[in-house]
Amino acid sequence: MMKYRAPGRINIIGEHTDYNDGYVLPFAIDKHIYLDIKNSDKFTFSSKNSNEKISLNNLQKTNTWADYIIGVILELEKKVGKIPPFSFNIHSNLPIGAGLSSSAALEVVSAYALNDILNLNLSLEELALIGWNAENKFIGLNCGIMDQYASALSKENHALFIDTFTKKHELIPLNLKDYNFYIINSGVKHELGNSEYNIRKKQCDEALKALGKNSFREITYDDLEKLEGISYKRAKHVLDENNRVLKTIEALKNDNIELIGEYLFESHESLKNLYEVSCEEIDYIIDNLKNKVTGARIVGGGFGGSVLVLSKDDEFEKVIDNLKYEYNKKYSIEIEYFKVKNSNGVEKYI
Ligand code: GLA
Repeated sequence: MMKYRAPGRINIIGEHTDYNDGYVLPFAIDKHIYLDIKNSDKFTFSSKNSNEKISLNNLQKTNTWADYIIGVILELEKKVGKIPPFSFNIHSNLPIGAGLSSSAALEVVSAYALNDILNLNLSLEELALIGWNAENKFIGLNCGIMDQYASALSKENHALFIDTFTKKHELIPLNLKDYNFYIINSGVKHELGNSEYNIRKKQCDEALKALGKNSFREITYDDLEKLEGISYKRAKHVLDENNRVLKTIEALKNDNIELIGEYLFESHESLKNLYEVSCEEIDYIIDNLKNKVTGARIVGGGFGGSVLVLSKDDEFEKVIDNLKYEYNKKYSIEIEYFKVKNSNGVEKYI
């Protein structure tokens, strides 16, 4: 039996830009999907977290988490030919549906494991793109490449700057001085997320079309003025958010962590009002954190999931207990949170 693991990710900034040829700045976190894989006479998929077991002679859609692996196998087959059956057993300490990319981690760990066992010699970028294709073509989420790239290519103590237009990426040293990132899981699962997500992508494509452009990289602030309504709001978010990514990298290089906090709050305002991917519970958390921590914003696809917080430890500790209490009183949900530790990308795990 062989063992592998792939991490989830947070995204410092650059949200809903990756399917708009924009910039993103994620990094892998120290929470993983673990995969034990061995030869088998049929494909089997089991999870230690849920005690489920799925057996298939022929690969097809199951409408379960196994689809993320099945999608990867089918994409790999398009590239390298028939894949023999294996037994996939997973377990995870990465919260599911919390905006931390558990699905990309599952895709990346499966692609990486098969590549290793079958000596396919595919690069990490190619494996990430196989996961991305599986998500787009088999699962049906028209996402960008951020999550799969972050899970595959991250390095400890760095953020991964990706230009999703050229697919070039660069490791940016991550020195937060005495600040830390935290994740607060709102407990609201982004169930509506997939359909709303695809609608956002469509609205951005429509904005491009209205301007007669092929890529968001060709759009200027002058062009924006020719748009109105939803098109204007979506496109303005993308342009502003791309600038915030570049400014955040600058601030990281200058050790100006407080400034990064401001960009996080600005990003949230934009995701809430211009891109409209937040939700009441998340906004409640952010409003409660304003003026108390360095920065906070919704992270990931949206419509629930998690809040990313940037804070000094003592400041965070001062607010979290009260927030937990008030949130539970209002929404009857126990908030879960953790301090973010960064991690390497996908790897063999002994
Ligand atoms: C999800 C998608 C990513 C990205 C984010 C929003 O996590 O999988 O590709 O679009 O949403 O930034």
